[in-house]
Amino acid sequence: MSKEGTRRFFLPGPAHVEPEILDRLRAPIAGHRSPGFKALYASLGPRLAQVFRTSSDVLIATSSSTLVMESALISAPAESVLHLTNGAFSERWEAINRSLGRDPDRLAHPWGEPVDPDLVRVALRRKRYDAVTVVHNETSTGVMNPLAEIAAAVRAESDALLLVDAVSSLGGAPVETEAWGLDLVLAGSQKALALPPGLTLFSISDRYAERAERLPHRGFYTDLLRYRDKHRAGGTITTPATPQMHALDSQLEVILREGIEARWERHRLMSEATLAWAVEAGCEPGAAEGSRSWTLTCLRPPRGSEAPELVAAMAERGFTIGGGYGQWKPSTFRIGHMGEIRSADLEVLFGELRAALDARSIPETIQGA
Ligand SMILES: Cc1ncc(COP(=O)(O)O)c(C=O)c1O
Repeated sequence: MSKEGTRRFFLPGPAHVEPEILDRLRAPIAGHRSPGFKALYASLGPRLAQVFRTSSDVLIATSSSTLVMESALISAPAESVLHLTNGAFSERWEAINRSLGRDPDRLAHPWGEPVDPDLVRVALRRKRYDAVTVVHNETSTGVMNPLAEIAAAVRAESDALLLVDAVSSLGGAPVETEAWGLDLVLAGSQKALALPPGLTLFSISDRYAERAERLPHRGFYTDLLRYRDKHRAGGTITTPATPQMHALDSQLEVILREGIEARWERHRLMSEATLAWAVEAGCEPGAAEGSRSWTLTCLRPPRGSEAPELVAAMAERGFTIGGGYGQWKPSTFRIGHMGEIRSADLEVLFGELRAALDARSIPETIQGA
């Protein structure tokens, strides 16, 4: 494990990966139908279920998360969908659906604001939907949506499937897949799970599977039931990224050794510390109070500093932080405090950020001149 205070990579995904985990990528290649690999694969599911907090199957896609978002909208009935939007990735759900030739509804919230469960209730009373999509943690704005309340609203008002992008939160903030009745939950390997990019982990509920069974054509690579059926038979739908699965094996050990709840709490404390530093440094959080993400913080720099310049200045100092995303690209920067990042790493980062801000800031008197 890297020494605390030495990690220098603070992107909001892909996130820092520990050297021991990267080493596992060098495991000798074996056939994915070999007994050795099959045993490794079989050991992943039950541990993933603990991380997802579900007794349902947790499946592994050799793909980035967007493919599983698209597959989720193809594999189950989704002619009528309500997309809850408040940032770039929640808007992506809608863009994917439109690319499939559908005309879904959108319950739009301003960027930086959380989705309002009461508005969700109202929308669901007005019209019947096959599915509702939501992004738990909007990586573009640093808003963490009140997922438990949104799920309760969806369950109380409708029989719609609830499709949840937990790409940048799962492993770093509470996601109670079963207790909250989430029908599909997907998470990226490269975020709070602190693995290299390339895998998407996802769970599907029995309700999702039952609805999917009614659809005769679910594609081939996009058919999430095929994942489930092949998984239950002990394998994967196609040749999987076996090196990544070795890395997942080791990282699951790390996560479960720490304990999932302890891991959430560590992330919560890191987000608190980041926010305290940001306020003290004169930065303005992009996310509304009460909705700030535990895994990343999106900030506007103090007056006199520009976000892209700050990101570049930090790179010169040997530190990687994230720039803004989408419509917030020019005005914000993002600090990922996810996965294996520790408070001691953040303390070093804050010192460097402070120095970079001091070095670059233009005195107010000159700005006004
Ligand atoms: C919340 C969220 N959803 C979806 C995606 C898309 O993931 P991918 O690039 O792995 O397809 C990202 C990527 O950053 C994300 O942060």
